[in-house]
Amino acid sequence: MSIDEAGSTVGELDPHGSAVAAGRVSAKPAPRRLVIVSNRVGPIGRNQTGQGGLAIAVRAALERTGGIWFGYSGSISERPSAAPKLTTDGNITAALLDLSRRDYDEYYIGFANRVLWPLFHYRPSLIGFSRRDLAGYLRVNRGFARALAPMLQPDDLVWVHDYHLIPLGEALRQLDCRQPIGFFLHTPFPAAELLRILPNHRELAASLCAYDLVGFQTAADLESFRDYLLRQGGGEDLGGGRLRAFGRTVRAGVFPIGIDVATVARQAEEAEESRQMRRLTASIRDRSLIIGVDRIDYSKGLPARFAAYSHLLEHYPQTRGHTVLMQIATASRSDVPEYREIRRNLEAAAGNINGRYAEFDWTPLRYLNKSFNHRILSGFYRAARIGLVTPFRDGMNLVAKEYVAAQKPEDPGMLVLSCFAGAVRELGEAIIVNPYDLEAMAEAIWQGLQMPIEERRERWAAMMATLRRNDINAWRERFLEALTAAGSGR
Ligand code: UDP
Ligand code: G6P
Repeated sequence: MSIDEAGSTVGELDPHGSAVAAGRVSAKPAPRRLVIVSNRVGPIGRNQTGQGGLAIAVRAALERTGGIWFGYSGSISERPSAAPKLTTDGNITAALLDLSRRDYDEYYIGFANRVLWPLFHYRPSLIGFSRRDLAGYLRVNRGFARALAPMLQPDDLVWVHDYHLIPLGEALRQLDCRQPIGFFLHTPFPAAELLRILPNHRELAASLCAYDLVGFQTAADLESFRDYLLRQGGGEDLGGGRLRAFGRTVRAGVFPIGIDVATVARQAEEAEESRQMRRLTASIRDRSLIIGVDRIDYSKGLPARFAAYSHLLEHYPQTRGHTVLMQIATASRSDVPEYREIRRNLEAAAGNINGRYAEFDWTPLRYLNKSFNHRILSGFYRAARIGLVTPFRDGMNLVAKEYVAAQKPEDPGMLVLSCFAGAVRELGEAIIVNPYDLEAMAEAIWQGLQMPIEERRERWAAMMATLRRNDINAWRERFLEALTAAGSGR
């Protein structure tokens, strides 16, 4: 039994999210003020273009409860103020700190995105560790804690998000903050043997144990954490979802992040009448649209996806002239050298495919380096016969869930999903592929294109039922309920 299964409030989700369905979640919104902390914040206004899943999900989760969203402003300044700038939109107040160039380089670029990100995504060869960056990471976390502590009220619930801020809980405790403090990791948590690559792995794991509650996307991530604590941290499983290690007791559980299913479905339906959708359908004509939507990140498996599409065109000649892959590829972390390199590679790969297969009246691959807001994106998903989500490793992947939620119930498209995306635990009725197997990916696209309508409807209905049960509100409520319980037992 995994530790979360034993917990009274923290349940392991079966593939259909029955821990939530079993009624262990109260429908009451948390009565305490919610303070969310993440590196990337907002935008807090509605219907903006999001930069990554965290910002989209936290925005949707805060919508009902309101609260404070504390984090990095996205700006670099020469002498950043130690106190955050506040702006309010409706029931959400953003509290934002600038960073100095040095902090940005060491904390965000250096340690968060050149050490923790590749390590947590199983790409140790891309790690560039330096003690200077580690010191910057710890310094910025302490600075965040010093700026946040005076804003906190005794009854607040503090919810810290993602790998940038692992030491924050401990830093807040050192400043005598006694509120329940929880942490949720949006990325995968690596296997114990991989985590050991990190020179400061013990300190990082000990920082996680300073939280009242630590949440993971999947049971596999939780198991890696537990395994590390038991084998490397001299830890003990106390049962009931509690672990003891480094002289601390922490609760840990699985909380797969959801989406705002109803809003995506409504926006997709409304988008059918929009100007952009008319333009898209006119340009696609009777061809089958295949869609991919990703940040340009090596974890997303984009070069392999392009190679699989090329294989499809080569070996399934019926698809030539009859399919279009539209890949929305949003620029990301361009100050990190590995990200600039993958962007160059993708541009070349896209050029090669079009150079090789395009006809005067057909371009097989539309490669778009831009981002779209959710209203437009939802319509694009709905117009696509195939949603192609093939990361090498992903904590969850919200695009997979959004694609399913946006489909027409009477004629849904089919999701082709990597077995290494966290979302596969809930979306087992998709066509599941190994992104390292190009031929299998091409075959999966072909299978999706050929799939009879009855089978598509059946698979879609099963996936939708799971998504609805475990939507963004259920995610927030389950986490906050468990955090309240964990905090009161401290
Ligand atoms: N997204 C968006 N506009 C775009 C591209 C992406 O709003 O042009 C959103 C997408 O809808 C999803 C999020 O960005 O909500 C990406 O989340 P995901 O979990 O798939 O990946 P991440 O970028 O967090 O690794
Ligand atoms: C992933 C991470 C988030 C991050 C997002 C966008 O979703 O889990 O923490 O915000 O990518 O990345 P960025 O570096 O632009 O914030």
